[in-house]
Amino acid sequence: MTKKIDLLNLVEQGGCSAKLSATELNKALADLPKITHENLLVDIDTHDDGGVYKIRDDYAIIQTTDFFPPVCSDAYDFGQIAAANALSDVYAMGGQVITAMNLVMFPENLSMDILKDILKGGQKKIQEAGGVLLGGHSIADDIPKYGLAVTGWVHPDDVITNAAAKPGDVLVLTKPIGTGSIISAKKNGIASPESYQAAIENMKLLNDKAALIMNKYNIKCATDITGFGLLGHALKMADGSNVSIRLESSKVPTIGNVMELIEMGCIPGAAFRNQEFTEGSCRFESSVDYNHKMLVLDAQTSGGLLMCVPKEKAEVIIKELRNTGYPDSSEVGSVITRSEKSVYIH
Ligand code: CO
Ligand code: CO
Ligand code: CO
Repeated sequence: MTKKIDLLNLVEQGGCSAKLSATELNKALADLPKITHENLLVDIDTHDDGGVYKIRDDYAIIQTTDFFPPVCSDAYDFGQIAAANALSDVYAMGGQVITAMNLVMFPENLSMDILKDILKGGQKKIQEAGGVLLGGHSIADDIPKYGLAVTGWVHPDDVITNAAAKPGDVLVLTKPIGTGSIISAKKNGIASPESYQAAIENMKLLNDKAALIMNKYNIKCATDITGFGLLGHALKMADGSNVSIRLESSKVPTIGNVMELIEMGCIPGAAFRNQEFTEGSCRFESSVDYNHKMLVLDAQTSGGLLMCVPKEKAEVIIKELRNTGYPDSSEVGSVITRSEKSVYIH
């Protein structure tokens, strides 16, 4: 019997909060030679969730990868969350999962039973997604990290990108937000068990059924909400689509008592990095209070899908999402014609 370890004690910033800042990352990516290929349907140009490569006229593969340090205390939960998060980028593109490979970084001085639980969690989610685990790669590292490289498939006509938002569309978000603040509160010992558990359940929840609903209603534009926060991902969508977005911060669904936790100062560093990279291209209306500002900047791990839905379909899609396992699905804003700023927060 090995001593139970709280994985959160091993990390400064877990989950998608550990992403490099977008401002810094852009410096590295900016001057890389551009890759062109006739079969390349979606590349890194629009900062989309995954790459899409056409194999045949009726079949394209989606490739994506994500891995990060622990975002919760328990190893089995961590494995499930990291896998759900990595699989999510396939769903954000409107695809379904085919195969996955484990990416493992793990300290040699920690019990292999912990790693076993992480891998069990990952496998559970891959199976739930209908995917097949093919193998993986592991290296010794001081801080554990886990994730997947995932291959999915999609019909080339059904590819969903973050670059197809149209003025008049309604923005629908499928999961509540606040995981960054709640995890920070958990680390500081002030998260209520209810809020922490709600965050865990939301992070474990696959976006698979929401992707099927997007296919059913012929949705063309979506992204999943992760480390750059609701605002950061909305910004990438606005710029990728050459439109502007109006976010209604008071309509954004939240997890547990996260607004209280933000009020108490549970705001991890990732939110301030997101503030830095969104600052120049977003405008907060004066009606938005500080806590709601920090909420939309909060880095999410394994967040929901943000989809652009034709106005006349919004009500029925939200209803269907709520009945399909995403009870917090809500309208959170709308797409407007390109204006001075990329995102206006009300
Ligand atoms: Co993504
Ligand atoms: Co990703
Ligand atoms: Co996408």
